[in-house]
Amino acid sequence: MPPLSQVIDSSQERRRAAAAREVHSERLAAQLGLFLGAAFTVCFVTGLISHLHQHPLGWFPLPSSPAGLYRVTQGLHVTTGLAAIPLLLAKLYVVSPQLPRWPPVDDVVDAMARLALLPLVGGSILLLFTGAANIASWYPWDFFFPVGHWWAAWMVMGALMVHVSLQFPAVKRLFTRSDQRHSGDVSDDGRGLSRRGLLGFVVGGAGILTLLTAGQTFPPLRAFTALAPRRPDIGPQGFPVNRTAEAAGTEDLATGDGYALVVVHRDGTEQTLDLAAIRALEQVSRELPIACVEGWSASVKWRGVPLSAVLAAGGVGTEEMEGRTVKVGSAQQRGLYGSSLVEPDLAGRDDCLLALEANGEVLHPDHGAPVRLIAPNRPGVLQTKWVTRLEVL
Ligand code: HEM
Repeated sequence: MPPLSQVIDSSQERRRAAAAREVHSERLAAQLGLFLGAAFTVCFVTGLISHLHQHPLGWFPLPSSPAGLYRVTQGLHVTTGLAAIPLLLAKLYVVSPQLPRWPPVDDVVDAMARLALLPLVGGSILLLFTGAANIASWYPWDFFFPVGHWWAAWMVMGALMVHVSLQFPAVKRLFTRSDQRHSGDVSDDGRGLSRRGLLGFVVGGAGILTLLTAGQTFPPLRAFTALAPRRPDIGPQGFPVNRTAEAAGTEDLATGDGYALVVVHRDGTEQTLDLAAIRALEQVSRELPIACVEGWSASVKWRGVPLSAVLAAGGVGTEEMEGRTVKVGSAQQRGLYGSSLVEPDLAGRDDCLLALEANGEVLHPDHGAPVRLIAPNRPGVLQTKWVTRLEVL
């Protein structure tokens, strides 16, 4: 009979090996894959919505209400994307023993499956890294972020479809054969994380990341925005600024002296309104969110004149406006987003404003003084600041 210490050692050995089989099991890989697939699908759909706001398709108009829809979709995009980081790390850990093998492929289908892993894994890392770095305003690359992120998203979603269809049998087994917990296990030396430890890492990591960022768009969690690049209640007049008047080269405009708003008619003729003429128009108050592409958002009480009323004061009648898009131009000299398009249904709404005040005060220069656009359900980059030109297209 073996000595007691040897019995204990071998039973510990067996337990460690069993734990390793669990953590690297097909079942756990499929479970994490499902969560990761769901997170990436949410990110892809919400990302497409953000893209369509900025690159509208004539035949697929986005609704202009509810006013806070974009703050929800983009808030969800960033929060879900960040929560996907521990999920991806965990998934890579679970399948890691299966990656190096000899011969590298078994047959043609296996070769396809392994080939699809390159864009899937590489693209996922790229997406999550560029997304997280972007919201932290860190750009350690030479390409334009939305373009790189956009193409990486398509590559990943394509590879994900190939991957899921080839791994379908494993996903099916997950739902049909609950007793087959360890099919497809791989050998391991028993060292490393246990299944419980790994799940703790995923749930804890995703939970902490969500808790520390969701407050940038979800007010009850505002006190916990340690990882969010901006707190939505901090900034001039109680909300953040992405581009200051100094950065945009528009500081001189804020006094309103010599300010002129040029209204360009469809036939190219122009009419000019000064600030007094705009202020003399009937003003309305509306509470609308300002929702940044980077995920933060804040509700602001705006006061100003509906865009349609300003256009009317510039001589643009209802007939001329019928079915027309309005190009709103800024005095901003540097950077992108010097103008934005307002679609016909939005241009006619009484909550599509040229704002003169925010939260009860005359608009701050960094928020676009003396006149800025604010309209429902739009990314912040399209809420053009320092407006000096309205063009009926
Ligand atoms: C850490 C995770 C992520 C973060 C923080 C993040 C952040 C962002 C941000 C800030 C934008 C707006 C870009 C802009 O318009 O300037 C964006 C757009 C987008 N994201 Fe993500 N993202 C993440 C993950 C993902 C994932 C996993 C996918 C897809 C599977 C995805 C797909 C997209 C798409 C398609 C766009 C639209 C790009 C465009 O406007 O051309 N993102 N993302």
